[in-house]
Amino acid sequence: MLQEIILKHKGTPGALIPILHEAQNVYGYLPGEVLHDIAKGLGMPEAEVYGVATFYSQFSLEKKGKYRINVCLGTACYVKGAQDLLDKFKLRLMIDVGECTDDGLFSLEACRCIGACGLAPVVTINGDVYGRMTVDKVDEILDKYEALAASEKEAEEA
Ligand code: FES
Repeated sequence: MLQEIILKHKGTPGALIPILHEAQNVYGYLPGEVLHDIAKGLGMPEAEVYGVATFYSQFSLEKKGKYRINVCLGTACYVKGAQDLLDKFKLRLMIDVGECTDDGLFSLEACRCIGACGLAPVVTINGDVYGRMTVDKVDEILDKYEALAASEKEAEEA
């Protein structure tokens, strides 16, 4: 699959960016071995491929979950207990910031102000914004996403 993507773009000026995009679509992120194979396939130094992949924020070198949880640790959220929220997510999911659960469902990030301080503390999960979050709501929200993933899986298997 990766070789097909490389061959499709090889020889075109600026081939690296579309290759990185397509590879990320296939693998969900850009693991080291994929970057290595891309560099080899294009005859480019590996450092250059890494440089481009880390420069653009749309590329991720870490595995991401189906549901990407982002806990805002900006000042307004922090003073309203964002650290407790982050700790609760870590405990429930048994992962640290920057990690993904083994089942690939959730990954956890911490970010700086996302411009919704009036709703502090704020957590986003993919595109959904959860304002005035409390530690008590963490389980309820994660249960909802787990149920959603389970029903999607059931529908796929039906
Ligand atoms: S500090 Fe969290 S939204 Fe601004």
